[in-house]
Amino acid sequence: MARLTLEGVRKVYEGGAVAVHGVDLEVADGELVVLVGPSGCGKSTTLRMIAGLESITAGRLLIDGVQVNDLPPAKRDIAMVFQTYALYPHMTVRDNMRFALRIRNMSAADVDRRITDTAQMLDIVPLLDRLPRQLSGGQRQRVAIGRAIVRQPKVFLFDEPLSNLDAKLRVATRREISRLQRRLGVTSVYVTHDQTEAMTMGDRIVVMNAGKVQQIDTPIALYERPRNLFVATFIGSPPMNVLRGTLERAASGVVFRAGKATLPVDDDRARKLAMYVGGPIVAGVRPEHVHVAPRPATAREVGGFVVDVVEPLGSETLLHARAEGQELTASLAPQPLPRPGEPVELSIDVGHLLFFDQATGEAVGA
Ligand SMILES: Nc1ncnc2c1ncn2[C@@H]1O[C@H](COP(=O)(O)OP(=O)(O)OP(=O)(O)O)[C@@H](O)[C@H]1O
Ligand SMILES: [Mg+2]
Repeated sequence: MARLTLEGVRKVYEGGAVAVHGVDLEVADGELVVLVGPSGCGKSTTLRMIAGLESITAGRLLIDGVQVNDLPPAKRDIAMVFQTYALYPHMTVRDNMRFALRIRNMSAADVDRRITDTAQMLDIVPLLDRLPRQLSGGQRQRVAIGRAIVRQPKVFLFDEPLSNLDAKLRVATRREISRLQRRLGVTSVYVTHDQTEAMTMGDRIVVMNAGKVQQIDTPIALYERPRNLFVATFIGSPPMNVLRGTLERAASGVVFRAGKATLPVDDDRARKLAMYVGGPIVAGVRPEHVHVAPRPATAREVGGFVVDVVEPLGSETLLHARAEGQELTASLAPQPLPRPGEPVELSIDVGHLLFFDQATGEAVGA
């Protein structure tokens, strides 16, 4: 049980490259926080600083309010699971787990009991006397997780633990880790570049880009109220549609104009966006708020679109369409649709439009 605090934690590698610009984060006792972002954004570096495998250039790292910046990894009571399983090849599964307990002052009987309990939890009892090379990739990763759990550490750290598994196993193992983490109530930080993994596993998510924290929030808050265009387009699959256009004052009130589309902006929002009227702005809309004819009452038509690609996924169909310089993806209920190259009548639920500053990418008008 532990609370983990990062205060302005920063990493500058030799040569002066800033990998992580001051991260501020508080992970509550028993919470699972996911760090997500594109390759090279500083996720592993942040995790490795928490583990003590990488020095902290500036800032403070605290466990239960006690600064641990200079504590060696073995003294932090943290267990880490990596992408590569890193099991000792010449040791059986049982001995791999036993080895994780070597520095504990535990009786042999207690060690054996702890190993059996953990193995039962992970459903790997029949594998205990095998060597790692006699296991499948998925089984090896369960053992690696088991070796972390058996120690009953204060904090779990996971660095892309599922990326070597096939798609189906990845989903199953992701649920298993979630379930175990909840059951054991161990404070955890989980790194992934996969936004679906982040959304499904995280109590809260830290979105990072280029060494900087973009937003820290619950999955749904990130999805509904992204703070900037990076978060808006990174979280969500298929990604949010981005329309570049202008805000203009028309007879009917303020409108957003992009290509042939003219979408009304309600008065309240128009007031908040007053400083953008008469200039460029970026609008975002999720694929589920783009419709085909007949349009719902709340949606407004956007003309001139032609079907590009149709992707039937069974439970939904993704329709990608183009119009002079604009692209839109609609997530639709399965239905007969025009073919690629044919015109399609698209409409957008204007109440669900989000706006972003064209220059800074910051969300505006919310
Ligand atoms: N030992 C190192 N020395 C110098 N630069 C490094 C070192 N390790 C990582 N970096 C750089 O720091 C930045 C962040 O790397 P990091 O490994 O934390 O990214 P990541 O978000 O985990 O990416 P990935 O998703 O590819 O694993 C990158 O630009 C990387 O090149
Ligand atoms: Mg990494």
